Amino acid sequence: MAQARLRGVVALDGPSGTGKSTVSRKLAAALGATYLDTGAMYRAVTLAVLRAGVDPADAVEVTRVARAAELSMGTDPLAPGVRLDGAEVEGEIRGPEVTGAVSAVSAVAEVRELLVALQRELIGRAMTEPGGMVVEGRDIGTVVVPDAGLKVYLTASAEARAARRTAQDASDGRRSDLRSTHADVQRRDALDSGRKVAPLRQADDAVEVDSTDLDIHGVLEQLIKLVESRGLVTGDGGAV
Ligand code: DC
Repeated sequence: MAQARLRGVVALDGPSGTGKSTVSRKLAAALGATYLDTGAMYRAVTLAVLRAGVDPADAVEVTRVARAAELSMGTDPLAPGVRLDGAEVEGEIRGPEVTGAVSAVSAVAEVRELLVALQRELIGRAMTEPGGMVVEGRDIGTVVVPDAGLKVYLTASAEARAARRTAQDASDGRRSDLRSTHADVQRRDALDSGRKVAPLRQADDAVEVDSTDLDIHGVLEQLIKLVESRGLVTGDGGAV
């Protein structure tokens, strides 16, 4: 029997710490789809900005660096990876320096324009292959792919998100504590939702999934039901 496969795009948006990345990758893997982590793209540009010694608040200089940066995104959900100017930077883009500066860089309109164009190109290319694509970010359902077959807005309480981030940091070998992570989650929520260009918000036609009291498996189950109910799965019905 043919493997169940996704058709089209699933857009997964929401604030940080909702389990969005883990669940997006698992969903893509379960449905034979590719995966695009757009947050990693903003992070990689931020790394380029920091490496260039540019002030992340200087929109003109940030734009210059972003234009010169060579980004290459892996779309395999089991090993996505991101390359900046030819070198793998997956580890570095998750560190505190990049995390602290990424909201400022992603608020620059020209950076968004550049990255949205690149995202659409990658998504367009993926649509020529079987298997569809799961795309995660903040503005996928509202800006990047407004006609996605399914839009999900993944939420969770700020406390639950901070606790998850802290656990993730610990398991990745980064030092962090709950109180400062909670403050960082709230700071980034405010910056991402309050910026002028493409602020984080739920698309009118997105389905909200609250993961505060769900584990990854529970969220994944809900998403697979949603994908199936939209008729976005081809092959031998049933994705798991
Ligand atoms: O998902 P993440 O935490 O890796 O995202 C990093 C930052 O990038 C986040 O603070 C907001 C920004 N971002 C964005 O503005 N638009 C996207 N589509 C994805 C991420």
